[in-house]
Amino acid sequence: MDVDVRRPDPDQLHTFRHLLGLAFGFDPDPDEEKRFLELIEAERTRCAFDGDEMVGTATAFSLDLTVPGGTVPCAGTTMVTTKPTHRRRGILRALMAAHFDEVVERGEPVAALWASDSAIYGRFGFGQASEGVEVTVARSEDPLHRLAPEPSPVELVDVDTARKVFPEVFEQVRVRRPGCYARSAVWWEHRHFHDPRQRRDGGTQQRLCVTRSNDGEPTGYVRYRVEAKWEEHHGAGVLTVLELQATTPEAAAGLWRFLLTHDLIAKVVAHDRPVDDPLFELLAAPRRARRVTTDALWLRIFDVPAALEARRYRGPASFVFDVSDPTGRSGGTFRLEIDEAGHARCRPSRGPVDLRLDIEDLGSAYLGAPRFARSLRAGRLDGDPATAVRADIAFTWDPPPWCPEVF
Ligand SMILES: CC(C)(COP(=O)(O)OP(=O)(O)OC[C@H]1O[C@@H](n2cnc3c(N)ncnc32)[C@H](O)[C@@H]1OP(=O)(O)O)[C@@H](O)C(=O)NCCC(=O)NCCS
Repeated sequence: MDVDVRRPDPDQLHTFRHLLGLAFGFDPDPDEEKRFLELIEAERTRCAFDGDEMVGTATAFSLDLTVPGGTVPCAGTTMVTTKPTHRRRGILRALMAAHFDEVVERGEPVAALWASDSAIYGRFGFGQASEGVEVTVARSEDPLHRLAPEPSPVELVDVDTARKVFPEVFEQVRVRRPGCYARSAVWWEHRHFHDPRQRRDGGTQQRLCVTRSNDGEPTGYVRYRVEAKWEEHHGAGVLTVLELQATTPEAAAGLWRFLLTHDLIAKVVAHDRPVDDPLFELLAAPRRARRVTTDALWLRIFDVPAALEARRYRGPASFVFDVSDPTGRSGGTFRLEIDEAGHARCRPSRGPVDLRLDIEDLGSAYLGAPRFARSLRAGRLDGDPATAVRADIAFTWDPPPWCPEVF
């Protein structure tokens, strides 16, 4: 089908939002349009048109993404839709081609996204680069393990205090944790502190708490809400954690104990926790944490040398990767030389090749999750198993990747 993909005029962003509602199944609230326009990067939007009719949307946030040992400019691919009347006619393919051109023009070595369905984006070279854990823990009066540190006291704060304290804490987490990205003041306001009734899913408005060190420095925060329920005359509410960040073990222990002992609830639910959440080590009864692990951030490499040089590794090591790309954009053979300090140099090479892999699987390994050996065992990449293990050792990072927010 012939569609024209181009930047929409400013007065067409209203229609853009209407398409988001049609595709994702919500009714755009007119009161939210101003905030939407403040957050969106209009110059990065691309729309597909069938004649004059807008039939597809895509855009990106310009992210400063944390990678092992550094940060990299990253296109945060988002709001990708095809109008329900025009699905499966190649509009997503056309939008992705235009979006990729724009990413390459800007010189962003990588793009990342959250996928509404995990079957969609591998064909475009995105790989599962981080996992998130949905965790449900039953309330208990004394939840912490005997070896847990002394929990920090928890303070309920108003939104003005949170506006000052939360970004300070988050910044300390963000620079260490691959998969996090910097948040502007507008981002904090619209995506974290703004709390309209339609986002609450029947729960209370969000409650905001902080922890501090003995000398008063902020060390953690949580945003949560409670949905009150009663069963057989007992409180059976659900406490949902919206975001929890802690920079010390005492802060993590304090925040989790506060949530898990909350009165009149039956359970605490958190939808996106890191695979190494201290919670799992802090619980006296770890099996009470029911965990469902799922793919989270998907990452696509555009410029292999620039991307691989932007992160650190466990060195020294040397590999020649033969990378294929289903879109034909970024493949090639590259030598990665990692020095003692973990800095890398990456250049095109003529081989001999150590590992042959798809750009999707290189993207999966990029943020520091161990991927090579398991992909090789699954038959997705070719090479010597011992080399795949060595590559895992070089690429794996502590802490493991985590993206604490869907965008
Ligand atoms: C997902 C969506 C954008 C796909 O758009 P589309 O225009 O129908 O997709 P295309 O026709 O260009 O399909 C491109 C390819 O992706 C595949 N594909 C599209 N949607 C898919 C899905 N949900 N699951 C698996 N594969 C899918 C197509 O089969 C096609 O495969 P091929 O070209 O390799 O044979 C569209 O269905 C949509 O708007 N869904 C609701 C919103 C959404 O989920 N957006 C994605 C946000 S991350």
